[in-house]
Amino acid sequence: METMNVIDAIKGRASKRKYLEKKVPQETIEKILEAAAMTPSGANMQPWTVYAVSNDKLLKDIGDAIIAHIEAGGDVDQHVQYYPLNWINPYKKRRILTGAGLYKLMEVDRHDDATRQQMWFDNYRWFGAQNVFFVYVNNELINGAQGPLMDCGAYMQNLMLAAEGYGLATVPQGSTTEYGKIISKVMGVPDDFSLLYSVVVGYEDKSARINSYQPKRVKLTDTVTFLD
Ligand SMILES: Cc1cc2nc3c(=O)[nH]c(=O)nc-3n(C[C@H](O)[C@H](O)[C@H](O)COP(=O)(O)O)c2cc1C
Repeated sequence: METMNVIDAIKGRASKRKYLEKKVPQETIEKILEAAAMTPSGANMQPWTVYAVSNDKLLKDIGDAIIAHIEAGGDVDQHVQYYPLNWINPYKKRRILTGAGLYKLMEVDRHDDATRQQMWFDNYRWFGAQNVFFVYVNNELINGAQGPLMDCGAYMQNLMLAAEGYGLATVPQGSTTEYGKIISKVMGVPDDFSLLYSVVVGYEDKSARINSYQPKRVKLTDTVTFLD
């Protein structure tokens, strides 16, 4: 199995939203998890608790449960709130631009709510992939503290970069965070854990137009202040 230069991995990674119907071998899944386990964390607490799911029926059951809940008019059913409640600029503008770029590429009209919802539901079908990591944190670790959330964020990136290193593609998901309680129920996760996010991993369908999407970043000086 080949590995790659770290800068190539960081710059080469992009969220992929269509996968081949092919399972990642368990051995590779474990190698990705072993690499991600090297993520630094405060006091080396290693706050991530991961469910690495490759069971087709379980993935389908999770997706079915979320979609049924949404279609029945159910509200979000989450442990943690990922997205800001108040979208201020310039972040709001960036969010809108990123969404608009994807819909333009896919030739979806911005008023075509049905197609847009279908595209969102693809999240709960794991974009056709067969492997998903669900990352949880113990509630006590984030009771009045944010540090473990930072650690779990770094863990997310390392999962994705390790997968990239093994020639696989990924997409991180906050769409699952929003239904964390439903997911826990289907998977039988104890109540003292909160779902932070999931990461889909698999083999990119290179013929899919959606996978050519690579939203740009703002210029460096929009996010960095050099004090020299
Ligand atoms: C925490 C987090 C949650 C995300 N949730 C979703 C999601 O639910 N569905 C999705 O298609 N993309 C999701 N994304 C992907 C972002 O839209 C994507 O990272 C961003 O637009 C930059 O594009 P890139 O990953 O291709 O570089 C998420 C990304 C992060 C970091």
